[in-house]
Amino acid sequence: MTETIIKTENLTKTYSGSNVKAVDNLNIEIMKGEIYGLLGPNGAGKTTTISMLSTRVAPSGGKAIVAGYDIIKDSLKVRKVIGVVPQDLTTDEDLSGYENLMMVASFYDVNKNKAKEKAAQLLRLVDLEEAANKHVKTYSGGMRKRLELIVGLINEPEILFLDEPTLGLDVQTRSQMWKYIRDIQEKLDVTIILTSHYLDEIDALSSRVTIIDHGKVLVTGTSEELKAKLKGDIIMMTFKTQEEAEKIKEFPNLVDVKDNGPKSVRLKVQDSDRELPNVIEFISKNQLSLTRMTVQKPSLDDVFLEYTGKGIRDAEGGGEFRQTMFNMRRLRR
Ligand SMILES: Nc1ncnc2c1ncn2[C@@H]1O[C@H](COP(=O)(O)OP(=O)(O)OP(=O)(O)O)[C@@H](O)[C@H]1O
Ligand SMILES: [Mg+2]
Repeated sequence: MTETIIKTENLTKTYSGSNVKAVDNLNIEIMKGEIYGLLGPNGAGKTTTISMLSTRVAPSGGKAIVAGYDIIKDSLKVRKVIGVVPQDLTTDEDLSGYENLMMVASFYDVNKNKAKEKAAQLLRLVDLEEAANKHVKTYSGGMRKRLELIVGLINEPEILFLDEPTLGLDVQTRSQMWKYIRDIQEKLDVTIILTSHYLDEIDALSSRVTIIDHGKVLVTGTSEELKAKLKGDIIMMTFKTQEEAEKIKEFPNLVDVKDNGPKSVRLKVQDSDRELPNVIEFISKNQLSLTRMTVQKPSLDDVFLEYTGKGIRDAEGGGEFRQTMFNMRRLRR
């Protein structure tokens, strides 16, 4: 993973009629073959970033090179080498999965025989062979999302943008989608840029992640690197009385301590494996009656909290599974 495939320099977007920068001097570099995660709360600028990189929205400042092409000067060339799976559903419900693929192939001027072959390959890849000739309106939510995934691949792109590929799906269907996304990356040798609200998704799929909020990069790294930066494990404890919960705050060697509801505290220690025996000793020496204790190594949730100052749940808002009519303009060049 050494070849750069996307690079932005101070990429900025202010929508007309608004003076808020939806994307604010964004600098990111994505390597060929990565599954790169863009993580951020509602309104962070994820979709706007993808829209600019896929040449659907013109930047108001800065530049970006995608697969060697400038998104402004060479936008047509960029479009030929990318696939986009937008946040909203786009396939036509009154057509079959196969017909949807063939229609999109025609927008891209893919030769008909080639398109047939490709459609069959893609339908097989996401286990939609049997449903291929059924109307999309008969598909389950997961099947529909799988079809959306491969529609973005019919023109054999080098880069695939996935905007919230599992939004609105149940937990089990989401983890199935992860398998398909990994398969796509490996078997079709594409670079994937993925946005998500779901920390576990980014954790499970991404080689690297950038957390953005208010259009700005807060941090970039592998999820391991980001977690390591937090330097600390969390020990949650609940006591019988509030006094006892106060007392534990006197434990030495704390990196941080916060209240966590009535009679509960959240301690951060450098290394829980090392400190836990000392914590137990402190509790016993002070005769505190502990009713509950959990130990947590940092997760990407904690990383998010650390950098944005809010939990992803607070930031998440509705997260409705929106559905829009098929938009032909989207695909016209
Ligand atoms: N077409 C538009 N016109 C004006 N403002 C817009 C437009 N699209 C997005 N915005 C604003 O730009 C900011 C970034 O929005 P964007 O959709 O890029 O965020 P997001 O991270 O994709 O959010 P979500 O998680 O809700 O999909 C928000 O403040 C949003 O209200
Ligand atoms: Mg979005």
